[in-house]
Amino acid sequence: MRFHFSNKLLSLPFALLVLGTAALSLPQAFAQNANYDESKVPQYVLPDPLVANDGSKIETPEAWKNIRRPEILKQFQTEMFGKFPEADLSKLKFEDVMTYDKFLDGKATVKIVRVYFNYPEKAPKMDLMLVLPNSKKDQPVPAFLMPNFQGLHTTTDDVNIPAETFEAATRNKGKNPEDVRGVAKSRWAFEKIVDAGYACVTVYYEEIDPDFDDGFKNGVHPLFTNFNIEDGDYPAAISAWAWGLSRALDCLETRPEIDAKKVIVLGHSRLGKTALWCGANDERFAGVVSNDSGCGGAALSRREFGETVKSINKSFPHWFTKNFRAYGDRVNDLPMDEHELVALIAPRPVYVASASEDLWADPKGEFLSALNADPVYRLLGTDGIGGVTEQPDVDTPVGATIRYHKRTGKHDVTDFDWEQYIKFADSIFGVER
Ligand code: GCU
Repeated sequence: MRFHFSNKLLSLPFALLVLGTAALSLPQAFAQNANYDESKVPQYVLPDPLVANDGSKIETPEAWKNIRRPEILKQFQTEMFGKFPEADLSKLKFEDVMTYDKFLDGKATVKIVRVYFNYPEKAPKMDLMLVLPNSKKDQPVPAFLMPNFQGLHTTTDDVNIPAETFEAATRNKGKNPEDVRGVAKSRWAFEKIVDAGYACVTVYYEEIDPDFDDGFKNGVHPLFTNFNIEDGDYPAAISAWAWGLSRALDCLETRPEIDAKKVIVLGHSRLGKTALWCGANDERFAGVVSNDSGCGGAALSRREFGETVKSINKSFPHWFTKNFRAYGDRVNDLPMDEHELVALIAPRPVYVASASEDLWADPKGEFLSALNADPVYRLLGTDGIGGVTEQPDVDTPVGATIRYHKRTGKHDVTDFDWEQYIKFADSIFGVER
């Protein structure tokens, strides 16, 4: 799923072996040559989220809302992710495709709902899989919305979950769908989620936009007719995925099973970048979780630790705007940094999570974004990161409205992560256990 190199793997013999035996892909080569040495992080000054472009201080919630927030949102749209298109809601259509009430030995019901983005055209479309707690039948439940990497059926071994979305899976091309059934199941703590009374909704992200550089011709891009592909702020792939998640919320708003005012958008890795961007634009989401989102997500660009703006633009040019490429050698010229992406979610609760071996994603840079969003959360009357000033030890979740943890282990989503996200949801929705 991703290229991870721990420090151990970066040893000289290993590097020589790899270099001697195979040509490295671009991301692998970047990962090997990245800086993982804290003492080599350059000096930098972060843009102040509470100073407006004209230099004036932002001192009231109204000034944040009316002046500064729109400025920062525009900076991210123009320089990094691209515009976030309006939706033509009259073209959206939702269709029930399947109900299966014996999931998890009868603890949960799975419903698959098809979302047509441009009805009556059948394509593009996406299938949402709703995993609903049977213990809460007949009442709307809060939900986690988390896109998946390889198709609905890769989240579970249960053969009743169809492998239809498989066809779009560029990652799985040429494989038998059943060969990848359940491959990602360790990332989907469905049982814990429904036991806690929550629904989990997932969508295969490449149904929204296939994840390769085709000049923005496929996926939902043909629907973005108000934009010119040549423009430096054209909505790139992360904007498209985030836009698709907003359409998923449009659908959930029509579902009696879901309390759509209580949906947390959650994403891992590139989809963690997507979750942050989605939550920043779409204020209907009650909370946002960024799991190991790294460069272009929660990690501060100015630290240039692990993956950098320069390397991410070379490896994944289709994720970001053309404008973003200009900053590869001059990250300090970016008008914004990633703490301001977190701040755009304020005052809604946000959780930034890292993993100790995931140096490529810069756990410290992820923490510093969470920390430096705190002044905005406080201005808006919340308890922010709850007085935390230092990155905590591993496996020690901290924070308040802004939360953070660094889990032991590699780049992944684990039960430990989910346990924290469920507690986070409980705190947002006032659930006592
Ligand atoms: C690569 C990429 C990261 C990304 C990750 C993923 O490692 O460099 O930026 O987060 O893939 O999405 O799995």
